[in-house]
Amino acid sequence: MEVIIEPTADAASVLAARIVADLVRKKPAAVLGLATGNTPLPMYRELIRLHAEEGLDFSGVTTFNLDEYLGLEPAHPASYHHFMWENLFRHINVRPEQVHLPDGLTQDVPSCCAAYEASIRGAGGIDLQVLGIGGDGHIGFNEPVSSLSSRTRIKTLTERTRSDNAFAFSTPDAVPHHVITMGIGTIMESREVLLLGFGGRKADALEATVEGPVSQMVPASVLQFHQRVRVILDEAASVKLKRADYYKHVYANKPGWQRI
Ligand code: PGA
Repeated sequence: MEVIIEPTADAASVLAARIVADLVRKKPAAVLGLATGNTPLPMYRELIRLHAEEGLDFSGVTTFNLDEYLGLEPAHPASYHHFMWENLFRHINVRPEQVHLPDGLTQDVPSCCAAYEASIRGAGGIDLQVLGIGGDGHIGFNEPVSSLSSRTRIKTLTERTRSDNAFAFSTPDAVPHHVITMGIGTIMESREVLLLGFGGRKADALEATVEGPVSQMVPASVLQFHQRVRVILDEAASVKLKRADYYKHVYANKPGWQRI
């Protein structure tokens, strides 16, 4: 893992957006795996700016989102369809037919999940997967004790995750119990991973992810087995890392040819 610690979430997000933009410039038909939540929002704002001001072209890009609530229609204000269109897609020139999220209204969850996996494979696999991390170490909606080789499937949210996400709903009880999420095995097949973590609330999960043992209890820890992971943090999220000084030293001394 490469751990990059920036002073603020904004600086970290600008860096993350540069990584995405570099890929899209080098490979205009890139396949991006995208995340929802508060964490990627400043990165999406920067990508929108790069599109508006520097002509970053998303017309060849294909996207797959990690997850969606079961039972929410796309127009529901808390659905991840709605989130992605409001916060990214409608501001850039991605083609609607190249945007993919799991169908929250499916009546046949297993077939829907199998079709999602087939669609990722059909697009040639994910080049770069953007991830946030839950306070409990989840990635996507793969809660603790998810199989580390799981595929896209239904999951039941923990009460902690339901409560963390309640702000987007009219009442805490309105948060669905069930979601469709890419599996951990699905995420591990992406060619590159960008894990973003901001704020002190994520510090324990990030310490366990980066420096703890690989465990189903901390699903993100399996990323230790991925060949190409960048973990981009702000200072607050990095405070529990025992080797933070080393990660900063590595980044400060990267050979020029290795820089982004
Ligand atoms: P957040 O959620 O970005 O809103 O903190 C991250 C997650 O739960 O994966």
